[in-house]
Amino acid sequence: MAFSSKLLERIKSSPSILISNKAMEMKRAGRDVIALSAGEPDFDTPDNIKMAAMRAIVDGHTKYPPLTGLMELREAICRKFSRENGLDYHPDQVIVSTGGKQVISNALIATLDPKDEVIIPAPYWVSYPDMALLGGGEPVVVETLAEDEFRLTPERLEAAINERTRWLILNSPGNPSGGVYSAEDLQGLAEVLRRHPRILILTDDIYEHIVYDGVTFSTMAAAAPDLADRTLTMNGLSKSYCMTGWRLGYAAGPKDLIRTMAKVQSQTTSGACGISQWAGVEALDGDQSFIARNVVVFRERRDLGVSILNQTRGLSCSPSKGAFYLYVDCRGAIGKRTPEGETIGSDGDFAQYLLKSEEVAAVHGEAFGLSPYFRISYALATDRLEEACIRIQRACTRLEG
Ligand SMILES: Cc1ncc(COP(=O)(O)O)c(C=O)c1O
Repeated sequence: MAFSSKLLERIKSSPSILISNKAMEMKRAGRDVIALSAGEPDFDTPDNIKMAAMRAIVDGHTKYPPLTGLMELREAICRKFSRENGLDYHPDQVIVSTGGKQVISNALIATLDPKDEVIIPAPYWVSYPDMALLGGGEPVVVETLAEDEFRLTPERLEAAINERTRWLILNSPGNPSGGVYSAEDLQGLAEVLRRHPRILILTDDIYEHIVYDGVTFSTMAAAAPDLADRTLTMNGLSKSYCMTGWRLGYAAGPKDLIRTMAKVQSQTTSGACGISQWAGVEALDGDQSFIARNVVVFRERRDLGVSILNQTRGLSCSPSKGAFYLYVDCRGAIGKRTPEGETIGSDGDFAQYLLKSEEVAAVHGEAFGLSPYFRISYALATDRLEEACIRIQRACTRLEG
């Protein structure tokens, strides 16, 4: 008996979750697997945030929360946008959802009609194309180049647009690329978008605070204020605030768009967990200094990973400007033979080889729409990261041909 609808048959499960689950299974079976596959900081949620959640429970904030989020949290979000991005939003223009993931899927489900297209620059976060399909639309993948630091150029954007284009999704700092768009980059894209008024813009800014080397974060609604009335500025607490398990994401944008997204949410999950939301108020209004400290640790790990992998036969990578991933070029390993005599025909084969031979879990580039690469996350303990990179190096040394 088939349990899958035709719509669901068009989508796949998240490959990074599948690989992380496989790594967890191997660990449970007693293997010394190192998972570089999950997009999750290893740092614990700060104590002040945990305490706010405990207070919320004790104070009895345990009832259904409002659909679009607690007013206290939406006000804190408006303060955050004003303080950090120079953006002026009213709480009516804000929605809080169960993770950044739900914000994006709400937006696509709310707005896409059949055959509407969603432009997704590759390499992309694994979920965008499937979310577009789930929303009833069509993903249009536009490849970017390593020499452009995997940023979409105005020329490539223009070439991808047609009368069915409904959304452009921009993710900066990027997962998996680590690329960061400057205000000038965004203004270049804005020039193209001004000629196409039907297109909505979704900026996924969830890695906003995790930038390195003096890079300044920028977002479309601030870089091109005239496009703010068709831009959904999405963000969340999972990454910067080490709150992946609390499931809190949010977005601000035109009131009518937020209203349609709330309609979707009203018939699926209702408001996000109220206890998490009280913790979210403390996260956004409370001490922010731990973020900079975490970024210093991420940068040290990034440099360690880049240094070992760039001394590895067949691999090369550039230091990411943001987020906590390296997108490693593995074309030098393609076509080579493993000690077992198997040929590495793709980045998928390469990732399988790493898992089998050295028990290192990484996600193959095909999952992000751009091959031949693999992604490692360096959001894990530094000694484990170093051990994993040495294992990858060992695996590459053994390749022949
Ligand atoms: C680019 C990007 N956007 C959104 C999300 C979703 O975040 P959340 O855990 O808040 O749903 C992730 C998580 O991996 C991500 O990498």
